[in-house]
Amino acid sequence: MDEKRGITQFLLRHAACSPVSFHMPGHKGADLYRDHGYGDFLDSIMDCDVTEIPGADNLFQTEGIIRETMDRYKAIYGVKESFLLVGGSSAGLIAAIMTCVPAGGKLIMARNCHKAVFNGLRLAGGRPVYAYPEELAGAGISGAVLPSEIKRCLAEYPDASAVILPSPNYYGICSDIKAIADVVHEAGKVLIVDQAHGAHLKLFDEYIGGCARAAENQGADIIVESAHKTLASYTQSAIVNLNSDKVDQYVFADKLQMIESTSPSYLLMASLDINADLIERKGEQLTKTWEADLQYFYGKAKEIPGLKVLEHPMLDHTKINLDMSACGLTGLELEKLLMEKDIFVELVTGDILMCMTGIGNKRCDYDRLLSALREISTKTLLMEKRPSGRQAVTVKKLLQREIPQVCERVPVSQAAGRVCGSSLIPYPPGIPIICPGEVMDGEVLAYAQSLRAAGEKVMGIDEDGCVLAGKK
Ligand SMILES: Cc1ncc(COP(=O)(O)O)c(C=O)c1O
Repeated sequence: MDEKRGITQFLLRHAACSPVSFHMPGHKGADLYRDHGYGDFLDSIMDCDVTEIPGADNLFQTEGIIRETMDRYKAIYGVKESFLLVGGSSAGLIAAIMTCVPAGGKLIMARNCHKAVFNGLRLAGGRPVYAYPEELAGAGISGAVLPSEIKRCLAEYPDASAVILPSPNYYGICSDIKAIADVVHEAGKVLIVDQAHGAHLKLFDEYIGGCARAAENQGADIIVESAHKTLASYTQSAIVNLNSDKVDQYVFADKLQMIESTSPSYLLMASLDINADLIERKGEQLTKTWEADLQYFYGKAKEIPGLKVLEHPMLDHTKINLDMSACGLTGLELEKLLMEKDIFVELVTGDILMCMTGIGNKRCDYDRLLSALREISTKTLLMEKRPSGRQAVTVKKLLQREIPQVCERVPVSQAAGRVCGSSLIPYPPGIPIICPGEVMDGEVLAYAQSLRAAGEKVMGIDEDGCVLAGKK
C-alpha cells in the first residue's frame, strides 16, 4: 500500500528526512542497535511482539526472563530492587507516591514537579506541600531545590509522609540530593527522586565524574528514571530503583500493578533488556564517547558569535541549553530555524532552547548542530537587532485555596482571581503553571495564552480558550 496516512505517514516522512534528534528518546534511531549486535531484533520486531506465552515470564510475578533483567538493573544501579516500567517514569512516580502517602496524608513536593507527580498525589488522595525551586537568574528557568527549602517544609509540616523532587530538572539542573537526603532522613521521612532525566547519571558517575551525580549514590530511597529519555530503550520504558529498606517492595509492586497495563509490551521490556546489555558490555565506551562529543560541542560553541550556552555548577551537561537572544532570536525562532535544517530539539522556554543529547547521538549530529548555529549566527548578526524578550514564567507562588469539587468553564480572559479547577500545563515540559486549588493569576494566564497563540500545547485550555474554575 503506497498511500499511507495520518500518524504512519507523518512518522515515515519524518524518518525519511534524516533528522537530527536532540529530543527524546535517547537511542536516536536504529544505528545504535544495529552497530551493537541487535539488528536481528529490529528485523524481527513484529514477531517479537508477543504476550505471556510459556517461558515469557510475567511482569507482575517475575520468576524468569523478566526477573533476570530486573536483576541486571539492580547490579547496574547498585540498589536493593529494580522494577521495569512500561508506563514511563509517570507510572513509577504514581506508584511511589501511592506507596508512601496515605489518603489524607501530605507530600512535600517541589512545585516544578512533572504532572505525573500531581496526578499521583490526586490518586493517592494526598495533599501537596510545595517546596519552591530557585529561579536561575537571567535565564527564566527553574534551578535547584535547596536543602534549606526542604528543611523549612519539614519543620512546617512535620506530619508529611515523604518528599519528592526532580533532579536533574528538565533543563539539567541538579539539586544537592545528598544534603536533601540527610535532611529528609533526619526527619524520618522517605525521599523520592524523580530522576526521569538522569537515567544516565550512574554511568557518568562511574566513568566520568562531575557535579551531576546519580541519586542512587547520594542516599535517595526511591529513584524513578526514564531509561528511554537518555539511554537506549524505547519510549515509555523506564526503571524504578528501591535503594533502602524504608520502602516495602511488595507494597510498591502492588501499587504498580494497579496502574500499569495488564498487557505490558514485550518490545518495551526487550528494549530495557537491550539497554542493560549495552550498559554492561559497552557502557564505558559509550559514555566516554558521549562525553568526548559533549566536550567537543561545548568547545566549538564558544566560538560562535551571539550564542550563549548555559553553564551552571550543578548542570547535567548532557542537556545543552542554547540562547541566541543576543542575535535577536527567541527560543521559538531559533527552534524554527533549526527545524528548517531538519534538526529537532526537546524544549523551548523563553529564550532558552534545550537540546537533549542521548547515548545514541553521534559526532555528526553535534557537527550538524554546530554548523546550523554558525550559519544562523552569521545571518542574524548581519540583521538589525531587536530585543528578543519573550518572557518565560516558571513557577510563581500563587494563593492556595481548597480544590474545587464543582467546576465551570470560564474564558481565560475572565479567569484571573478564580480558583483553578484543572491544571494548566505547557507541554513540554509538563510542569503545571497553575494547579487545582491555586488562585489563577493574570500574568500566568497571559503567559499561557501567549504560548497557545504561538502554537504551543497548553493542557487545561480547551479549544474555545476556556479553563476550568471552581463554580462561584
Ligand atoms: C521531570 C519529569 N518527570 C517525569 C516525567 C515522566 O516521564 P515519562 O515520560 O517516562 O513517563 C517527565 C516527562 O517528560 C519529566 O520531564
